[in-house]
Amino acid sequence: MFDDKKVIFSGMQATGNLTLGNYLGALKNWVKLADEYMTFYCVVDLHSITIRQDPAEFRKRARNLLALYIAAGLDPEKNCIYYQSHNPDHAELGWILDCYTYVGELQRMTQYKDKAAKHADNINAGLLTYPSLMAADILLFQTEYVPVGVDQKQHLELARNLAERFNAIYGDTFVVPDIWLGKTGRKIMSLQEPDKKMSKSDENPNASIYLMDDADTIRRKFKRAVTDSVGVVRYCEEQPGVSNLIDIYCACTDKTTEECEKEFAGLGYGQFKEAVGEAVVGVLQPLHDRFEEIIKDKDYLDKVILENADKSYYYAEKTMRKVRKKIGFPERPRRS
Ligand code: TYM
Repeated sequence: MFDDKKVIFSGMQATGNLTLGNYLGALKNWVKLADEYMTFYCVVDLHSITIRQDPAEFRKRARNLLALYIAAGLDPEKNCIYYQSHNPDHAELGWILDCYTYVGELQRMTQYKDKAAKHADNINAGLLTYPSLMAADILLFQTEYVPVGVDQKQHLELARNLAERFNAIYGDTFVVPDIWLGKTGRKIMSLQEPDKKMSKSDENPNASIYLMDDADTIRRKFKRAVTDSVGVVRYCEEQPGVSNLIDIYCACTDKTTEECEKEFAGLGYGQFKEAVGEAVVGVLQPLHDRFEEIIKDKDYLDKVILENADKSYYYAEKTMRKVRKKIGFPERPRRS
């Protein structure tokens, strides 16, 4: 709790091409929360170097992501939008929490196992300790709720465990955070293999809708989306492809599953897929337009970046002063 408001924190990596999954599972939900909560939305660039990045490309992607947050509707006056690397408290608390995290806990993380398998030539220590840094991101702000897709659930569990562990040793220090999942879009699946999560790193470009895909590409990818031979638009386990399309449609139109099933009752998959494609274009097109405007406005973006880095540091320091004292670090001399 800061300034009598409960806190929301979330973040996204600026690596690869963001997908519709990132938007519907996270970003779109963030926009709804600004009025009720104090919100911090971070471009988690420290996390990204667990995989090698090309420096120029990395810098550009991170700035684009920050602009995209604003383009999606996050007002930087109301939401603290900043780069993780601009606030040194993330790295400090990350290190501290490393010392309260067991290696066994980290080795059990599915994301670690997946990434280690994918990048077998670079299984660095950061890849393993990634979830303690993520816990630090969250705990730094006394976060109550973390709006993410369901794939982040295991990391959230660890953040909760670390908060409870630290509190048990030193007394109440951190709020124990909860995951916040949207009604729809919590796990958008691949358009080609609907039993697999839609992912930035999928080798098949038809499997994912990238946020920057143009309207014709989006329509074409939905036309090619894998369905089944049942021929009925119904949300059920036996029809994973169709269910994924229903989920996407509902997340984009704010309709319920039942409303969607009714709307397409008796119609063929061709018509249904076309409508899903149009719904997605309807959501992404305004996002593109707004993004183009914002990314051009260098002075505005620089001001947002500076002001929000300071704001995030101001609030993070409230927690860090407590943490340092409880652990027993010597008091920092005040600079006059
Ligand atoms: P990242 O960058 O992989 O993904 C960003 C957000 O997008 C969600 N997401 C999805 N949601 C639904 N369907 C999908 N197919 C899909 N793919 C991705 C993710 O759940 C996430 O919410 N470790 C995090 C970043 C992070 C973070 C944090 C998040 C670092 N520190 C603190 C919250 C709080 C990650 O790699 O997300």
